[in-house]
Amino acid sequence: MTTHYDENQGSNPSTNFEFQDILDQRLSRRTLLKAGSVSALTVGCKALPTQPESSPLSFTEVPHGLDDQFTVADGYQQQVLLRWGDPLFAETPEFDPHTQSQALQEKQFGFNNDFIGYLPLPLGSTNSSNGLLVVNHEYSDTSLMFPPEAVAAPSDGQPATPQRRVLSKAQVDVDIASLGMSVVEIRKQGDSWQVVKDSRYNRRITPLTPMQMSGPAAGSSRLRTLDSSDGIRTLGTYGNCAGGITPWGTVLTGEENVDAYFNGDASQTDEAENYKRFGARGSKPWGLHYPRWDLSKNPHELLHMGWIVEIDPYDPNSVPKKRTVLGRCKHEGCNVHVGTDGVVAAYTGDDAQFEYIYKFISRRRYNPQDRANNLELLAEGTLYAARFNADGTLTWLPLVFGEGPLTNANGFISQADVLIDSRKAADLLGATKMDRPEDVEVNPVNGKVYAMLTNNSRRTSEQLDAANPRAANGNGQIIEFWPADGNHANTTFQWDLFLLAGNPQETGLVTAYHPDLSENGWLSCPDNCAFDSLGNIWIATDGAEGKNIAEGVWATEVDGPYRALTKRFLRSPIGSELCGPFFTPDDQTFFCSVQHPAEGSSWDQPSTRWPDFNPNLPPRPAVVVITKKGGGRIGS
Ligand code: FEO
Ligand code: CA
Ligand code: CA
Ligand code: CA
Repeated sequence: MTTHYDENQGSNPSTNFEFQDILDQRLSRRTLLKAGSVSALTVGCKALPTQPESSPLSFTEVPHGLDDQFTVADGYQQQVLLRWGDPLFAETPEFDPHTQSQALQEKQFGFNNDFIGYLPLPLGSTNSSNGLLVVNHEYSDTSLMFPPEAVAAPSDGQPATPQRRVLSKAQVDVDIASLGMSVVEIRKQGDSWQVVKDSRYNRRITPLTPMQMSGPAAGSSRLRTLDSSDGIRTLGTYGNCAGGITPWGTVLTGEENVDAYFNGDASQTDEAENYKRFGARGSKPWGLHYPRWDLSKNPHELLHMGWIVEIDPYDPNSVPKKRTVLGRCKHEGCNVHVGTDGVVAAYTGDDAQFEYIYKFISRRRYNPQDRANNLELLAEGTLYAARFNADGTLTWLPLVFGEGPLTNANGFISQADVLIDSRKAADLLGATKMDRPEDVEVNPVNGKVYAMLTNNSRRTSEQLDAANPRAANGNGQIIEFWPADGNHANTTFQWDLFLLAGNPQETGLVTAYHPDLSENGWLSCPDNCAFDSLGNIWIATDGAEGKNIAEGVWATEVDGPYRALTKRFLRSPIGSELCGPFFTPDDQTFFCSVQHPAEGSSWDQPSTRWPDFNPNLPPRPAVVVITKKGGGRIGS
């Protein structure tokens, strides 16, 4: 998310920057100069064609623009599959915003859908017409959730404007129930998809769902709270931004802006220093009703948040596990890659300004015949933070207690501390401070890792480095990195810039794309990505609207003569961000999330009433399904 959260302003005061001559570095980067096949650097005012002359991604580009509609390329059809409030169970009544309750919301699709994962049924198959959709509900906008007349006036007698609303306890309970995740069975019938409301798999996961801490930090005395006397039991997940699915059929979800939910003064608690580095600046009223979210009464609760959570959607009774071995930060998401030797790598980004990219390597190996083994692969292993060197190498720095600076002298007394305070550990190791790492995902065809770096308005010209080469970066970049011999366990990788986003025609702005980019092919603020089975990257944005174009999805090949020739595939409605792109295994269905349509406007006068366009309903976040008219692979 961007606009409501002040651009995920960083809280990283340490100074790891190496001062470098960024221009020399950029011009020496191999990919940016290799003629014909790669991104070309452009500085402002480049004339652009209306469509690229040729590309193996054969769809006709959707033009830029910004309106209240969802628009996909000609030849494709869109279907709204699941909206906030839609019943997930056969007995649940249809949504009515005027009769909303906690009990109903716990049986309905949640608010602000973000990550989408499709997991075929049965487990282990590649069924592309029946599966489980697992969806994150990142956060809520209560000004578009509750009718204004239902909200009490402030005690000073002034009107309850969206900025001055006072939610009742019952409304806070609805708000809490609207977050977390949905698991829902879906089935393709003809050329449309249906929700299977009586499926035994359907499930809502909320901030109240019982879960477990797993791994080295589980049981730490620092994790003892009002609800967890053992530091192992925990409740719920929220702030779920992106995620990934694993080859063993689980979903990983990232807990991102979790500090936003806490009230109370933490400055007098024993975690005060940690919370300065992590951030603790709540805006939600949950802590006014529940001591769980009041840091002055329950000072360690925020340590239960900021993890990657693994859930098994094939077992509706499974207890989700917070994988502490993957570190604690504002995780965007997490994606795994299994090497030929069975070693599992997991990649995750910490989405705030000047934060880090991490890699995890499992101790145990993946065994396709042994799911019980695989379900604990993310329990043990080594976490690393990335240092991007100016010579095009990447060094993975291990977050291991007792090694290097991660000792008592710097306040760590165990591996639990190193993981709970991952940011501090990575500071001390000298990791590279990035321009807000969002999705980090491995291309299944070329085995390279792609990281979406969304933007960083606060980077100054003194803080540039080879991987983050633009000051006041309002557009973001995509970076790729890979092990030279294909072994993701290596501690040295190679890296390159894949593209520098932004409008190539903007005066003075340095961008890098394929030289044949069209006038609709540029993008801004990459957030999520998906790969089709041919290895093409599909990039979703959150921040393009700040450049006066609609958010959307752009696609390109990653290798060969059309590398970084991004083409716009769809346009999302005004006020939204577009996230969660995901393909079925046959590439014939493309799922995406329209999150927070009409954000920044009001219940009475929303900037769009997408997707219902019903004057009695507010705009609603929703999952959109895209298929090709007449069937076939998306994009070709
Ligand atoms: Fe929730 Fe990183 O965007
Ligand atoms: Ca974002
Ligand atoms: Ca995101
Ligand atoms: Ca993704």
